[in-house]
Amino acid sequence: MINKILVIHGPNLNLLGEREPGVYGNTSIDVLNDNIIDRAKEQGMQCEIFQSNHEGAIIDKLHAARTAFDAVIINAGAYTHYSYAIRDAIAAIKIPCIEVHISNVFARDEFRSKSVISEVCRGTICGFGFGSYYLAVQALAEL
Ligand code: DQA
Repeated sequence: MINKILVIHGPNLNLLGEREPGVYGNTSIDVLNDNIIDRAKEQGMQCEIFQSNHEGAIIDKLHAARTAFDAVIINAGAYTHYSYAIRDAIAAIKIPCIEVHISNVFARDEFRSKSVISEVCRGTICGFGFGSYYLAVQALAEL
């Protein structure tokens, strides 16, 4: 039963709303976070949200999550494509982890179509804008 979830936003996602609005939209991370918390509540789940631009901080948070949360939703930003350290941290913890991306990473630059974390995640949702996070909340509710 999944009661407590952690959402991790990786690098540059703090600039949502300002950053490449054609790709990521005009809406801020604060609005996104409020919506995620509302969706989680609707599913009877508690939700904490963490954003960092630093690989080590994301790894520390994943380690801490293994005893404090039932599941993780992670948008690792560009680390998705090359951070074996984040991949190993996800593999090291036993709770399920869902990979999300706002954009369709397969329809963009070639380097974005490779994720080094997908294999150690329970599943991946990408291309639905902020909806990717809401779908991940739904997926966890149905696990
Ligand atoms: C992203 C896609 C990544 O390629 C990019 O580096 C990001 C955001 C997304 O949510 O679409 O920072 O993870």
